[in-house]
Amino acid sequence: MEQFFASSPRGLEPLLAAELVSLGAQSVQQVPGGAAFSGDWRVCYMANLWSRLASRILWRVAEFDYAGEGDIHEAARKVDWMRLFTVERSLRVNVSAQKSPLTSLDFATLRIKDAVCDRFRETLGSRPNVDRANPDVRVHAFLESARGVFYLDTSGEPLFKRGWRAGAGEAPLRENLAAGIILLSGWKPEEPLLDPMCGGGTLLIEAAAIARGRAPGVNRRFGFENLKVFSPAIWEKEKRDAQKPRNSPKALEIFGSDNDPRVLGDARRNIAGAGVDRWVKLEQADILERAAPAPAGVMVANPPYGERIGSKEKLAEFYPKLGSALKKNYPGWRCHFFTADLRLPKLMRLQPSRRVPLFNGALECRLFEICIVAGSNRR
Ligand SMILES: C[S@@+](CC[C@H](N)C(=O)[O-])C[C@H]1O[C@@H](n2cnc3c(N)ncnc32)[C@H](O)[C@@H]1O
Repeated sequence: MEQFFASSPRGLEPLLAAELVSLGAQSVQQVPGGAAFSGDWRVCYMANLWSRLASRILWRVAEFDYAGEGDIHEAARKVDWMRLFTVERSLRVNVSAQKSPLTSLDFATLRIKDAVCDRFRETLGSRPNVDRANPDVRVHAFLESARGVFYLDTSGEPLFKRGWRAGAGEAPLRENLAAGIILLSGWKPEEPLLDPMCGGGTLLIEAAAIARGRAPGVNRRFGFENLKVFSPAIWEKEKRDAQKPRNSPKALEIFGSDNDPRVLGDARRNIAGAGVDRWVKLEQADILERAAPAPAGVMVANPPYGERIGSKEKLAEFYPKLGSALKKNYPGWRCHFFTADLRLPKLMRLQPSRRVPLFNGALECRLFEICIVAGSNRR
């Protein structure tokens, strides 16, 4: 049994923990920003292949007490790295910390890298190369006030990189956050789904993948393939199983629109790249004028929120119009807005039935649920 840690966007931990349990993880323990779990290597492969919510799956290889960089260097020299990966593999070290007394994490990173390389050189006479951009092996150190953990990254590129993104649109959501928003909305594949400000189409693609039961990692490589413990036979079997067709919902109705023709081009390419174009209907439209594509359904959207696109003042004019358009055109729809602009419901003059705190990186956001009932939503 090995010990792992799955990281995820903050706010998704309860969903992540449930997802890990469904993939066979044991002793799952949520903490802010992820969940620790135990399992064999098959569970690790399954988590990488199937988790829609995790950013990375880290394998715990050593833990230590420390007071300064010297202790961390010593702890890194004690690890038998040669048992974990070969000297031909390129390396990158990352350090993250919470309440650590260290003044420079960059210096700690350097000391760990030196310790790993020294250990190889002393034993084999040669050391691994460092490759910061595209390493074969990533060592992560996580430092708390007096205790630290070394992990090896079994994911490699973060798991939100599913391998289908061709065009970014503007301010695209990370795929695992988008999947979390779809799951939190409670959407069922039998219901029509609309993202009327779809940008590069991330929410639409994640929704289609969930409905079809498609493994998010089926088209990519993983960090564990570069580790000595890798067992291709177990992995190939899981990968083959994941490629078999699963759900074919009879009436999957997913609609996307955006008023910017350029980002719609990105959405079109992304949707085709993800192989879900059969299920997603796209059109160019302004949400303020767009008619509902069905008498009732679920809307999910990530409207512009002024951090990166659109200014706060322009949005203060846009949101009341959006509120009026929803009341006019979307009675019967359950709408979900993911935004960092906490003024949104008030400015829309609509009462949310639910507010879920979620983080987009370091940015505190909310997922507001607003049910549009004809004539009854005025504050
Ligand atoms: C934050 S981005 C959405 C990003 C998207 N969730 C993704 O992952 O790519 C907001 C989008 O709203 C669109 N938008 C802004 N005002 C709009 C309007 N009145 N009608 C339709 N789309 C609009 C913008 O063109 C932009 O693509």
